[in-house]
Amino acid sequence: MTDAATIFGIESSCDETCAAVVADGRRVLGNVVASQIDLHARYGGVVPEVASRAHIEAINTVIESALVQSGLKPADIAAVAVTHEPGLIGSLLVGLMAAKTLAWVWDVPLVAVNHVYAHAYSPALDEEPIEYPAVALVCSGGHTALYRCTGPTELELIGSTTDDAAGEAFDKVAHILNLGFPGGPLIDRLAHDGDPAAVRFPRSLLRGQSLDFSFSGLKTAVLYHVNGTPGQRRRGRPAQASGAGRGASHLSRQEIADIAASFQAAVVDVLVTKLRRAVKVTGARTMILGGGVSANSALRRAASDQAERLRCTLRLPALRYCVDNAAQTAGLAWHYLRAGQVADLDLEAQATVRR
Ligand code: KG4
Ligand code: ZN
Repeated sequence: MTDAATIFGIESSCDETCAAVVADGRRVLGNVVASQIDLHARYGGVVPEVASRAHIEAINTVIESALVQSGLKPADIAAVAVTHEPGLIGSLLVGLMAAKTLAWVWDVPLVAVNHVYAHAYSPALDEEPIEYPAVALVCSGGHTALYRCTGPTELELIGSTTDDAAGEAFDKVAHILNLGFPGGPLIDRLAHDGDPAAVRFPRSLLRGQSLDFSFSGLKTAVLYHVNGTPGQRRRGRPAQASGAGRGASHLSRQEIADIAASFQAAVVDVLVTKLRRAVKVTGARTMILGGGVSANSALRRAASDQAERLRCTLRLPALRYCVDNAAQTAGLAWHYLRAGQVADLDLEAQATVRR
């Protein structure tokens, strides 16, 4: 393999059908994402069966579009990379079968890529290589994980969520506030008009030196703030007086913006505190953010302030590479291919992985 190898990537671990063409591990020549947001919005979350069916319907067109966008022919492709873990099993299988078929037909190696590792590689796309050692914080709808990285393919899990993922908390709080789905971008936008100090929501696991995360208490705190606590209702307080059980409909737009901003501030506070802790524990000089939540404007700002204080380099993905995409899959695969780490055509999909 030459350093100029061009890799075709496929990603379908959740609710986006993605294909991309990436040269030298970083130069994105084609990147296509078919989002299923509209399909899932009416259910307030991703429905696995709906997702896998939509992947089947979209995958051929997405593959073809990415190749056309790159201006290349199959003969120019050195390998096919695919996300094989973790994710929704039915969704992963669609991308995996497509990738195996392409690798077989094009007669090139298949490369297996972990989706969360790929998010931790996304800041390298269209940019300079990442300098290691680094700490990487990946926060998305399905994952909140902190890694010690000694290279793009060498990641050691040093912290993760004990319950909800950060993005999941954004989505659930947006649901409580009747904002819609997915919640992250909506809360981010609304928070601009709110006061982050209006409500002091809890910050979990900040005491001690833990690198783990917990967001379910914060989500419940928002729910009680909006609906009133069950105790309030049990004591027979009139629902009208406390707002108990009425959802967010009794709140003014300003109150909702204040809650959104205060919730976001609590999440960002926890994420950045853990990032700082991880830098101190590992001695790494590079901080990496990745995953859907890394698009959050408050998080990007706070991480950048923190990096400056710690005299670290912060690597943020471009906004188009924060959410799921196959460019990060193909980019990371280049490093596996270079190391001779290729997969067999009997490669299996795995829904959950913890390492
Ligand atoms: O990485 P991603 O596309 O999918 C997973 O691998 O899960 O992340 C999607 C998640 C959703 O929960 C969405 O609400 C969140 O990323 N998200 C954001 C923002 N944009 C997307 N969260 C906070 N602020 C944002 N601007
Ligand atoms: Zn993702």
